[in-house]
Amino acid sequence: MKEQLEAIRTQALEAVAAAAASAELESVRVRYLGKKGELTAVLKQMGKLSPEERPVMGQLANDVRAAVESAVESRAAELAEKAMEEKLKAETVDITIPGRRSPMGHKHPMYTVLDEIKEIFINMGFEIMEGPEIEQSAYNFTKLNTPDDHPAREWSDTFYLDEESRTLLRTQTSPMQIRAMEEHGVPIRMISPGRVYRKDEVDATHSPMFHQIEGLVVDKGITMADLKGTLNAVIREIYGPDTVTRFRPHHFPFTEPSCEVDIQCHKCGGAGCPTCKGEGWIEVLGAGMVHPKVLRGCGVDPDVYSGYAFGMGLERLAMGQFKISDLRLIFENDTRFLEQF
Ligand code: PHE
Repeated sequence: MKEQLEAIRTQALEAVAAAAASAELESVRVRYLGKKGELTAVLKQMGKLSPEERPVMGQLANDVRAAVESAVESRAAELAEKAMEEKLKAETVDITIPGRRSPMGHKHPMYTVLDEIKEIFINMGFEIMEGPEIEQSAYNFTKLNTPDDHPAREWSDTFYLDEESRTLLRTQTSPMQIRAMEEHGVPIRMISPGRVYRKDEVDATHSPMFHQIEGLVVDKGITMADLKGTLNAVIREIYGPDTVTRFRPHHFPFTEPSCEVDIQCHKCGGAGCPTCKGEGWIEVLGAGMVHPKVLRGCGVDPDVYSGYAFGMGLERLAMGQFKISDLRLIFENDTRFLEQF
């Protein structure tokens, strides 16, 4: 019996040490210490022993039980600790891994240019006004002294919204001259940026939608000298203090006299190059003295007040400033392009 008990002790301690998980440990415990376990089976044979042997074997059996029980206990603690460690390891957050950034956008280059231009005019005392893109032909044409047979009114050039040609997508921001004078009266000094629409085919310099900035100044005693002085100052703010300008006679129905303003090509200095298409000059805006008929139509007496107006293309300004060669890049919203600004 002694050998049996010793064998149980050895085997049980080995099995306990080998148990790799708490479920396995529990089955080891049951196998050796359980009611139907090996130790119990041995103890059942105690009756066969002599009275002298009985207490000795009883003592040994208790020792074996105690040894196995404490081994089970400490192994259970070990396994619990190991399980916890593994759990912690599996759930670890590596705080040194760089985070995943969501891509941040930024202002579109064209709006960067627009904000700069607004700033220039605000500093000169201009107000900023905005108006509708869906406009009445009365404002887009008639009140701007543009007669019924003017080519700009053709269906082939303009997006009309009704059969009677009464409403349209404005072809220019000039209707804002009328709206500004009708709503705010004179004297007035304002700019009005916004989208305009024309039935143009898309190419490197044309788009059926583009942006203009309209300007209007009306007061007593405004002359062509004010127009030239102000526009020269603005152009030199935008293109640099040494920019050479040229005021070239032109025609617009709503200004008289009218002009177009060119800047000497900043790339070639006037010699002619691809940027200025060999001209040496780049057209930047249209302008003129507000036509007396336009003033009168807005209830302003042209014998008392005079003024000038101008309109410039925003895309062209942005293209010049950022050296963008193709207008389409401005509208495509390809981030590989936009990221460069
Ligand atoms: N509206 C004109 C155009 O689109 C530009 C312009 C504005 C000319 C104001 C004179 C005065 O071409």
